[in-house]
Amino acid sequence: MAGLVDGFDVASSAEMKIALDTAMPVQQISIAGPGKSVAELNIAIAAGVTINVESFNELETIARLSAKSGITASVAIRINPAFELKTSGMKMGGGAKPFGIDEEQLPAVLRHLQVLPVDFQGFHIYSGSQNLKADALIEAQRQSFALALRLLEFCPNGIKKLNIGGGYGIPYFVGESPLNIEQVGDALAIEMAKFKSVLPEAEVIIELGRYLVGEAGIYVCQVVDKKISRGQVYLVVNGGLHHHLAASGNFGQVIRKNYPLAIGNKMYAEQQEIVNVVGCLCTPLDILADKMPLPVAEVGDLVVVYQSGAYGLTASPSGFLSQPSAEEVLV
Ligand SMILES: Cc1ncc(COP(=O)(O)O)c(C=O)c1O
Repeated sequence: MAGLVDGFDVASSAEMKIALDTAMPVQQISIAGPGKSVAELNIAIAAGVTINVESFNELETIARLSAKSGITASVAIRINPAFELKTSGMKMGGGAKPFGIDEEQLPAVLRHLQVLPVDFQGFHIYSGSQNLKADALIEAQRQSFALALRLLEFCPNGIKKLNIGGGYGIPYFVGESPLNIEQVGDALAIEMAKFKSVLPEAEVIIELGRYLVGEAGIYVCQVVDKKISRGQVYLVVNGGLHHHLAASGNFGQVIRKNYPLAIGNKMYAEQQEIVNVVGCLCTPLDILADKMPLPVAEVGDLVVVYQSGAYGLTASPSGFLSQPSAEEVLV
């Protein structure tokens, strides 16, 4: 990805090491997430990775580690804004949240920051994830710019970087439509122009995850058994929940929906039947498809789950029941 994007935001020291091993300049790498360990913070400080600060305590720890090492930490303050990203699959800002420092506390925190041995870069405002509504994203972006500009007067050396988050979603389920990216882009151009008229040098960052890679990945498993129980067809595969928790329904989410599926070696087969695709774990939660029309499949055929390039294997309980893990292959 290093040649395709302008920066990386990582979520652990292991991810940080991977990012640092690429050609990405360290100034373009940041680390976010609550509960960063002292070891993680020390690596970030030593390497020059920007730390998106999640709490007042974390800021104090960074300042202490910075003073001890004699290396000035590069920091951005993650803000928990008063607004929320409406209609988002996962809201990560607005109200009480474990992420970032509440907007109301920012003036005091920024004043305090002036006496700390840290290099203030700007703000990180990540308000939510998996959003398919252009209007909601546009409004959150507009509010993020406005919030940053309201806080500008409290910033020690202005704002060098403003990360306005991401949240661009991808369609997973029947009835969902792709995000209207042109609409988001048009509105963003207007907001950017306004922001740049005040802060022409500031870098504006959009932090995308699944929007970049989610649709690029598929999960493939093999039918190992086919059975009929009281009139319903079951395809039993050699994978499931432990490889792809999200497609199985996240351990019994309230309303489970089917990810898009195909029989990979029978893409053009005309004869279809309604099937349940289940994994090989001994739990009724191990489902990949519930009463779904698919080409008639037999033992040995390949079940393909689309939209699996993000939140797949690494977001699944691969140790559960000690079944073999899946393999990730970059094609
Ligand atoms: C801070 C932060 N950045 C980026 C992401 C990626 O989100 P998505 O894959 O929905 O774009 C997340 C997801 O929770 C996040 O917490």
